[in-house]
Amino acid sequence: MPQLIAGNWKMHGLTADTVALAKAVAAGSAGIAADLLVCPTALHLAAVAAAVSGSRVAVGGQDCHQDKQGPHTGDISAEMLRDAGAGWVILGHSERRQNHGEIDELVREKTLAAIAAGLTPIVCVGETADQRASGQETEIVGWQIAGSLPKPFPGVVAYEPVWAIGTGNSATAEDVAMMHDFIREELVRQFGADGHAIRILYGGSVRASNAAELLALANVGGALVGGASLKADEFLAIARAATP
Ligand code: PGA
Repeated sequence: MPQLIAGNWKMHGLTADTVALAKAVAAGSAGIAADLLVCPTALHLAAVAAAVSGSRVAVGGQDCHQDKQGPHTGDISAEMLRDAGAGWVILGHSERRQNHGEIDELVREKTLAAIAAGLTPIVCVGETADQRASGQETEIVGWQIAGSLPKPFPGVVAYEPVWAIGTGNSATAEDVAMMHDFIREELVRQFGADGHAIRILYGGSVRASNAAELLALANVGGALVGGASLKADEFLAIARAATP
């Protein structure tokens, strides 16, 4: 399976900016072997989907509600994302877990809603700096996988150590290799043979300068890219560093 290079645009850009970025990514995507995904805000999904239409670039949301519909002011359902042109959705990102109090059980419910709506979920897990300092990183990530992923799980896992996100300090290749091997073991333990096929992305300060080293590691199935995905050239350079 090709590696997946996904851009998480977070809360950046107005309509014209995001459409221009999407067009630049689409224009540069020909000849890139990796699967490409961009995740704008829900507000910009339809415009971005139109901008990349006909290219190899897929579009995803950054969150969805766990219910199909209902009295949830300000929320957006998985079906609405799909209707606006999304094929994917990021769930359980640490910024959602921290800023919106999302716990594993809720992430699991959202993941089920996404699957039911025909979206491919990218479920994020990762430890904080304090948890790593106290040697709990594998325990925490094991719990997050057990609590956040429904069975079966037709999706993607993103390992994003919280201390590496937006800091410019990515995890070292050694840390990434160790955690991705651990996550693979956990997936196989929890999902049996299906666990071998689940792509595991690394996220946290991925740049064009470190992408080749990280993407070459065993059990790294791609990257979830924040800051560096806001520049088309850098995002495409990361995608070109993906292994076939
Ligand atoms: P970053 O963000 O690449 O800016 O560290 C990654 C993410 O939050 O998905």
